[in-house]
Amino acid sequence: MKFGFFDDAKKEYVINSPKTPYPWINYLGNQGFFSLISNTAGGYCFYKDARLRRITRYRYNNVPIDMGGRYFYINDNGTIWNPGWAPVKTELDEYECRHGMGYTVITGKKNGLKAEVTFFVPQNYDGEVQQVVLTNESNEAKSFSIFSIAEWCLWDAQDDCTNFQRNFSTGRVEIEGSTIYHVTEYRDRRNHYAFYTVNDEIDGYDTDRDSFLGSIYNGWDNPETVKADKPSNSFADGWSPVASHYKKVTLAPGESKTLIYILGYAENPQDKKFAAEKPANLLTRETWVLNKEKAYAMIEKYNTPEKVAAGLAELRSTWEDLLSIFNVNTPDDKVNRMVNIWNQYQCMVTFNLSRSASYFESGIGRGMGFRDSNQDILGFVHQIPERARERLIDIASTQLSDGGCYHQYQPLTKKGNADIGGDFSDDPLWMILSVAAYIKETGDWGILDANVPFDDDPNGKHTMLEHLNVSFYHIVNNLGPHGLPLAMRADWNDCINLSCFSDTPGESFQTYTNPKFKAEGGYSKIAESAFVAALFTYTGPAFVGILEHLGKKDEAAKAQAEIDKMKKNVMESAFDGDWFIRAYDANGEKMGSKECEEGKIFIEPQGFAVMSEIGKDQGADIKTLNSIDKYLNCEFGLVLNNPAFTKYYVQYGEISTYPGGYKENAGIFTHNNAWIICAEAYAGRGDKAFEYYSKIAPAFTEETSDIHKTEPYVYGQMIGGKDAKNFGQGKNSWLTGTAAWNMVAISQYILGVQPVFDGLKVDPSIPHEWDGFTAVRKFRGATFNITVKNPAHVCKGVKTMTVDGKAVEGCVIPVCNGGTHEVEIVMG
Ligand code: GLC
Ligand code: GLC
Repeated sequence: MKFGFFDDAKKEYVINSPKTPYPWINYLGNQGFFSLISNTAGGYCFYKDARLRRITRYRYNNVPIDMGGRYFYINDNGTIWNPGWAPVKTELDEYECRHGMGYTVITGKKNGLKAEVTFFVPQNYDGEVQQVVLTNESNEAKSFSIFSIAEWCLWDAQDDCTNFQRNFSTGRVEIEGSTIYHVTEYRDRRNHYAFYTVNDEIDGYDTDRDSFLGSIYNGWDNPETVKADKPSNSFADGWSPVASHYKKVTLAPGESKTLIYILGYAENPQDKKFAAEKPANLLTRETWVLNKEKAYAMIEKYNTPEKVAAGLAELRSTWEDLLSIFNVNTPDDKVNRMVNIWNQYQCMVTFNLSRSASYFESGIGRGMGFRDSNQDILGFVHQIPERARERLIDIASTQLSDGGCYHQYQPLTKKGNADIGGDFSDDPLWMILSVAAYIKETGDWGILDANVPFDDDPNGKHTMLEHLNVSFYHIVNNLGPHGLPLAMRADWNDCINLSCFSDTPGESFQTYTNPKFKAEGGYSKIAESAFVAALFTYTGPAFVGILEHLGKKDEAAKAQAEIDKMKKNVMESAFDGDWFIRAYDANGEKMGSKECEEGKIFIEPQGFAVMSEIGKDQGADIKTLNSIDKYLNCEFGLVLNNPAFTKYYVQYGEISTYPGGYKENAGIFTHNNAWIICAEAYAGRGDKAFEYYSKIAPAFTEETSDIHKTEPYVYGQMIGGKDAKNFGQGKNSWLTGTAAWNMVAISQYILGVQPVFDGLKVDPSIPHEWDGFTAVRKFRGATFNITVKNPAHVCKGVKTMTVDGKAVEGCVIPVCNGGTHEVEIVMG
């Protein structure tokens, strides 16, 4: 069952029922100001940091689920409705929500009145513009009123939902004309404020939530003021400040009126915090006055429909440009839709927000993840390489000089989070992969010389190359009894915690260390990760390639020797006959082996081991891929492990606490499905690669939206696995490494368009039925129009390649200085 459709020409998903199986959201903003907006206009906004600069309030885990956002209420002679149906939920005559690239348009119609609301965050602008177009489509004149509402968060989202003894007494506002200012804590230690305005005179307002609702026992679905068609002109004094405008409107038949609301954020320099004079029309109960110059300028920028249209046009052309860097035309519309539009769009969102703020991530718990953000770059780097570069430097600056790193950092302060700490064994390796991806995309070798400090040596002079070096050797210097990397607190799988042995509720599996390992430095020196070993042999060659390019022959050879040694160790101690084991636990027992009672096979090490060609000469790659197909493949994707754990294994940690089929315990964790898609494509099995791709790519799940539940235009972290009661049900949509990795899987492995250090490689691994495909790829200043022909209907193999009619040896397009070039590839 579907709840909408893709409008590919407009690059929109069109939702035609407000009652989607879960709120289906969009993200507005891609620089400093961000909003989350659901198909009923639920959600919230923040500036840069979803925890420390939360602008509007949102209650997670609420009932009903998505209650609270920015809403417009229309009172049309006693009929009260919202353009997005919620919160009043009056049945609409027509409803539509269009989620597009950085904007959302929600349209509702009731009794001949149409309200179309366009929400967007313009480029280089710290505010959400909401343009409301009201049209009287009836044959009679209509008089009605419109109320807006936004509830302010008191800035720190965590404090806002815990520290009520203080917060109920701090709320402050100022009102000037049609603009309501949120100035809580501004007088004292803050230099930032928010405002909500409308470009017309208003007929009343509210700034105190309970006055707007009329009673502390009312909800957003039932505000007294709206019912009475009478604002209370309240002035917030503590409690919960809000901003609501009240406006009466009369429209002749066929007439329209446009109102432009702006929800903005601004910061003042310390010495310009206050205005010298108090304007006559200012409502305040303070003795000081906010300096509103910045807000005035922001309001001026979008106070007419023409200016709004220009802002929207600029946003659209920004996205047209971003999406023109890589686009394809394959025989499959769903692939085109994912690659050309939605997957790239999601990559931008994950790049911006890491795992911080979604409808499953509260924006409080996590900042930017070290491993997450490095992986996000893999899918984003071609879009705005300069931003990727800046991010790489920020991330690397949270690394420690021994190669270890903080697992997370706050985007606002860019400092590592001490409460989570480090010792996640895979973290440093992702840095090698992301820096290499950046160089492969841009050819900017200069990043290796960039001055990047270590967290424990903030003033020291260090280069990015040093960071890569310590990353690589952090693995080499921390090996266990079988010569495999120590597992530490966790590796990519946050829920395999081999040094935890937790038996007390509330202990965090990821940060708690069993006292028996305290003396050993915080984690077992026995537990080893075969996944990190495989990741090391997959990423290591990029480090070697970098050293070779720099002419550091000896260092390259030394690193290569470590990789070879690791491969040998893996074959000796971690190959189980038909697949690679997952780990050795702290008791020295195998995890993810035939010998185990449950969890005999895990997905994570397999793909990287295959792509590193570990044991390829003995057929280990194909045996492994076949085992995955046999044990992990199911209708909706590949499960993480099999059989699922049915008991608590204290030696494994969190993984066995999940019911079977969910999350890391045999859920379909889509992120690592991509690694198998890559590996199948690498091994030349394009049909299998595509089968796995089409099981999880959102556009392919659209028809089963009632089962899948989450948005059919973006990946979620997890789909219920075959052991789950809710088999096939998606969860944790939007912020997942799946976005980047599946972009890599489809573009670089299946379609095979892969940046390498010295050019652009094109080596597809596609379904054999395909006759071929075309692609446009902008790369290092040149544009390549690529045509791939597949007359022999093979899955893989480049027979000939020409660039501008000239034959090229192999399948790497050399770097060209500018220009547009025709590339033709014949497979066979
Ligand atoms: C989540 C985390 C990611 C981790 C994965 C597996 O998606 O964001 O860092 O690798 O879970 O546990
Ligand atoms: C991590 C991971 C997630 C895991 C969770 C459990 O943050 O993102 O996948 O289930 O921790 O605590």
